[in-house]
Amino acid sequence: MGKITIAIDGFSSTGKSTLAKQLAKKLEYIYVDTGAMYRAVTLFAMRNGIVENPGALVKLLPEIHLKFIYNKDAGYAEMYLNGENIEADIRTLEVSKFVSKIAEIGEVRQKLVEMQREMGREKGIVMDGRDIGTVVFPDAELKIFMTASPDARAARRYKELLDRGENVSYNEVLKNVRERDHIDSNRTFSPLKKANDAIAFDNTDMGLQEQFERMYNYALRVV
Ligand code: C5P
Repeated sequence: MGKITIAIDGFSSTGKSTLAKQLAKKLEYIYVDTGAMYRAVTLFAMRNGIVENPGALVKLLPEIHLKFIYNKDAGYAEMYLNGENIEADIRTLEVSKFVSKIAEIGEVRQKLVEMQREMGREKGIVMDGRDIGTVVFPDAELKIFMTASPDARAARRYKELLDRGENVSYNEVLKNVRERDHIDSNRTFSPLKKANDAIAFDNTDMGLQEQFERMYNYALRVV
């Protein structure tokens, strides 16, 4: 079976990463969560007090070294920033509040897209994000574009944050999901949009097992 590139894009909290991870495991492919990379750059900017200063961040970009390191117990790769495991720190609502502003910066995107292309050079990869099928791998053999109602997405993200021990309100989470969608869809560089050849996948009323089976069947048709 030849190895292919699978691009999974879509709105915030549509469950892209859960599905992408499962699919990668089944196919024995590499899984890359590109949102984690934008979150890592955002955390760096927050720690350096420059979230509102894109010029300063762009100057410091060469000092940002990102790496995914596989955690056998977790079953997926975790994000490292300059040698530090920041997997937990990048999942907070605080980072979610700033990440879309950071992801608008052209130079940030350029740096991360270059790394993403390098990771996918040999195919056999499932990558999820916002611009994978449109910009990072426009020639991907399988492209999925995931959507779900804002309420369904906010409910999932809210539960996730509560499970992680964060003290947040549902309305705050819903507001963040809507804001990120708006910024991500309207930015100048690589806005979030469905690639013409992507399969639209609305999972508002779909359980995880059904989602996985459908996705796996799509993959089997191309590999
Ligand atoms: O996927 P996740 O919700 O973790 O992504 C966080 C943010 O990173 C998105 O809201 C978006 O602003 C940005 N992002 C992006 N392009 C990608 C992946 C994520 O702009 N390929």
